Order: sequence, then structure tokens, then C-alpha cells
Amino acid sequence: MSAASDSSFPPSLQGAPLLVVGAGIMGAGIAQVAAQAGHPVWLHDAREGAAAEAKARLARSLDALVAKGRLSAEALTQTLARITPVSALAEAAGARLVVEAIVEKLDVKRALFRELEGLVAPDCVLATNTSSISVTAIANGLAHPERLVGMHFFNPVPLMKLVEVVSGLQTAPAVAEAIFALSAAWGKTPVHAKSTPGFIVNRIARPYYAETLALLLEQAATPAVLDACLRAAGFRMGPCELMDLIGHDTNFSVTQSVYEANFFDKRFMPSLVQRELVDGGLLGRKSGRGFYAYPDDGAALPV
Ligand code: NAI
Repeated sequence: MSAASDSSFPPSLQGAPLLVVGAGIMGAGIAQVAAQAGHPVWLHDAREGAAAEAKARLARSLDALVAKGRLSAEALTQTLARITPVSALAEAAGARLVVEAIVEKLDVKRALFRELEGLVAPDCVLATNTSSISVTAIANGLAHPERLVGMHFFNPVPLMKLVEVVSGLQTAPAVAEAIFALSAAWGKTPVHAKSTPGFIVNRIARPYYAETLALLLEQAATPAVLDACLRAAGFRMGPCELMDLIGHDTNFSVTQSVYEANFFDKRFMPSLVQRELVDGGLLGRKSGRGFYAYPDDGAALPV
């Protein structure tokens, strides 16, 4: 009998110990939100030291909130005490929920979940924060594909309300419902989505980025002008600053994945502008330069 065919599977995840794999932009944010909601959180990254660095960055940003009177010193202490960086996945074998936020590559995600299945309990829910890769495909090869679900947060995780709860062909409805309930308990606005290319938001957003990149390739306008236009039109951020925030490596991988999944429909074709930025290591905020330069976390500067 599969774990998910048991009617009690999965138990409520509220307050459950959680493992976040990947301590980059998204994993650090997910760890923060979970810890603030009272979960003990193990944070792991393949790069030695990355999880501890992410926790130190979080401490600095929470310190700033305390200084502004927007967070109590007690909440800061409690949040940080709940996050434990671990250098080996096996240290987090007691997790009842794993949220994966590693590189946007199908083979790497599959390998990670296969390894996790050998470590965690049979009723542990496995969630992927993938932006665009098929949840059905990630689950392929797992002993219990019914416990894998998409839990797609948006950047920055502590501020963005939306969570797409993505069901693949084999995801157990009870697993999707448990993640939906947990997201709501975290103060998020969850929606159910199916594992179609780009799910909902990234499907809609692809042409938005594609037209921006086409304008840049045609040298019709600078990033600063494009961003100023869209801000003046009422958007919180312009498309170029948003791509810098997402990270060009991640955004390029998402574009490639949606393009391939749509049988190379040219509406979704990646841009040479993206590839140049990625090849040059100009990944946006996280590398210090993308369309703009980000000196020491200061204001974005045109380049
Ligand atoms: P990132 O590049 O900031 O962080 C990824 C982290 O994963 C890195 O620290 C890397 O060392 C680590 N990593 C890579 N392979 C690993 C492995 N096998 N085991 C453990 N750690 C590993 O990437 P980001 O932006 O946090 O994205 C992570 C995931 O979240 C991707 O699937 C991405 O598509 C998705 N996502 C990204 C959003 C964004 O705006 N950046 C928004 C929503 C989802």
C-alpha cells in the first residue's frame, strides 16, 4: 500500500520539523517564513557554508527590522533559534516536510528527491519550489511519487503572498490539500495549479519578459527607461529590475524549460540577451551586476 493511500496521510504539517534544501534566494526566504511560523527548520545547501551564510544574512535583515521597530527582539531570537544549518542531509532525517529550492534543473532535482526518499520517513511530504519544471517529471522514478507536490513561492518569499500548489499526475490530493492548508497558515494566499509548463504565473509572465528582452535586443530603450515606463504604468517593479531580482540564471532556465515543454513554440523562445548575461556571470542582484550594478547592497545603478 502506498503511503498516500492511507487516509491519515499526510498528518497536519503545522509546526512540523521542516528541511529546506537550497539556501539561495528562495530557500533562505522559505526557511525564514517557516521559522517565523514556529517550525524547527533544517537548512542545507550543497555548497559548504552557504546555509550558515544565509542564516547570517537573515540575522542582519531581521536586526534591521528590530532597529526600525517592526519586529521584536524576542521574535528575532526565536526565529533564528529555530533555523539549524546542516552540512549533511542525513542530519535532517526527522523532517516531516522537505521543501526543495535548488538549481532549476530536472536531473539535479530528481537525484535529490531520490536520495531524500532513502532518508526521510514514509509520511514525509516532499515539495518542490520549481518555477517551471513538470512536477510529474520530477516525481518520475520515486518509490512514492504521490507524496511529491509543487510548493511554488514568489520572490521575495517573506513579502509575496501567492503560493501555487502544483499537482503532478501522481500527486495525492491529500498531499496538495496539506500544503494548501499549511501555506494559508503561514499567511500566504495559496492556489491549486496543475503541472502545466510554467504553471500559472510563469506562463503568463514569459511573454512579458520576452517582449522586454526583444526591445533591449532592438536597442529600442535602455533598462532604466523600460523600468520607468512600467513603474509609471502602475507596476511595483519594472521588468528589468524584476529579472535582476529573480536572477538571470534562474530566469533563463525557466524560459528554456517552458520553451521546451511547449514543443519549442517560438512564442516562448529564450533571448540572446539572457544568454549573454548568464554566460558573463551577470546574474543580477545576487552576483552584484545584471542590467544594473548593485554595489554593497546599495541602490541599483545603471551600467
Ligand atoms: P539560487 O541560485 O539563489 O540558489 C540555489 C541554491 O541551491 C544555491 O545556493 C546552490 O548552491 C544550491 N544547490 C544547487 N544544487 C544543489 C543540490 N543538489 N543540493 C543542495 N543544494 C543545491 O536559486 P533560487 O533563485 O533560490 O532558486 C531556487 C529554486 O527556486 C529554483 O528551482 C527556481 O526556479 C525556484 N524559484 C526561483 C524564484 C526566483 O525569483 N529566483 C522564484 C520562485 C521559484
